[in-house]
Amino acid sequence: MPNIVVVGAQWGDEGKGKIIDILASDANYIVRYQGGSNAGHTVVLKGKEFILHLIPSGILHRGKVCIIGNGVAFDPMAFLEEVETLKSKGIDVTKRNLVLSEKAHVIFPYHKKLDSLREAKKGTTTIGTTKRGIGPCYADKVSRCGIRVLDLMDSKNLREKLKFNIKEKNTLFKYLYNSDGVSFDEIYAQYRDYANQIRPFVGNTTIILNEAIKKNKRILFEGAQGTLLDIDHGTYPFVTSSSATSGGACIGTGIGPTHIDKVIGVVKAYTTRVGEGPFPTEFPSDLINKIRNRGKEFGATTGRPRRCGWFDSIVVKHSVLVNAIDEIAVTKLDVLDQMPKINICVGYKYRNKVYKFFPPDINVLNECRPIYQAHPGWLKDTNQIKKFEDLPYNAKRYLNTLKKLLGVKITIISVGSERGQIIRWGAKK
Ligand code: IMP
Repeated sequence: MPNIVVVGAQWGDEGKGKIIDILASDANYIVRYQGGSNAGHTVVLKGKEFILHLIPSGILHRGKVCIIGNGVAFDPMAFLEEVETLKSKGIDVTKRNLVLSEKAHVIFPYHKKLDSLREAKKGTTTIGTTKRGIGPCYADKVSRCGIRVLDLMDSKNLREKLKFNIKEKNTLFKYLYNSDGVSFDEIYAQYRDYANQIRPFVGNTTIILNEAIKKNKRILFEGAQGTLLDIDHGTYPFVTSSSATSGGACIGTGIGPTHIDKVIGVVKAYTTRVGEGPFPTEFPSDLINKIRNRGKEFGATTGRPRRCGWFDSIVVKHSVLVNAIDEIAVTKLDVLDQMPKINICVGYKYRNKVYKFFPPDINVLNECRPIYQAHPGWLKDTNQIKKFEDLPYNAKRYLNTLKKLLGVKITIISVGSERGQIIRWGAKK
């Protein structure tokens, strides 16, 4: 297996956790490169559900090294909680199988507070963030006042940087948001304590990964969120604050682009979105509950109900383009099992024009009406099927249509939450 990047090709929640879990068995290193604890990657093993927010999904496999790269917005509290939860479920988590980049930026309580206050102030233009402090943390990084893991390890550095940041943030809280400030003493003491607990995991992950590449080790890069939430290529401003596309794997780890051999895009057999922003193929209200309940479409991080809609080939074609996707994994095909008719969006109608590509202007997107191609449903259970040939005729037809529209082969089809509920399409017999 070469070095593979797995990206979400819709608005996140495509089922990347399960796909990573499957591919992880062939990898030596599994690496998160962006996002933070806003992500929620679900893996189900023998009926036990694991939801991973910061730690790569590969942690569930023995003998693998998991890496949290420099591009991740690192929340020490969430991290330590996750380590404890995994240990309590019998998963081994030590400095030998988990390394955190010293260059990752750290989330502080003032980032979370600012995230919430800013959202509340925005009123109708709210983004619907996860309120995990992601945007404010990345904003500090780009403003060059962020605090990195390596600063956390040095009490003098931490004191100086934290003093400056808290003074600035408290001014904002008081004068702009009419809210109480945060306490330097409390945060400093709390983060000194976190630093001591985190220290064993900290390392130079850029060197570790580049050394691994030299030794021909296999690396799996685990993207979080999805392409349409990418800060540059998504439905800006209704996006997250990191590079969720395949290019983010280089920036968020310090490996060069020539070391990436393959990009796998993960899509649901339909579409979902959490939070605000345009969603051209969103279902009318009568269909939403049917799919939401069957697909358990509630956020793994916030529990919020997800918005649901038909598969949008314009969205995924955009993702194929900006990520250079080589192969597609389709998840949750079984959720459509009872649908008598299934639509695929094949274009947008905007005033007198027809769009065959994804428009970057959300004002245009808000006015776009989807053009649908209707497909007959298969009305049969698919969740025990192991081979493509055994799928109902109309399910095969649906997948073949997606493949043709996207111009990319589909290699993995997931028909249930368990590890074994998977079909490899085109795999050598
Ligand atoms: P933030 O990342 O918390 O700033 O949220 C920005 C937008 O991205 C909101 O619409 C969130 O709902 C969405 N978002 C963030 N993380 C995820 C995710 O892991 N899955 C799906 N949506 C996400």
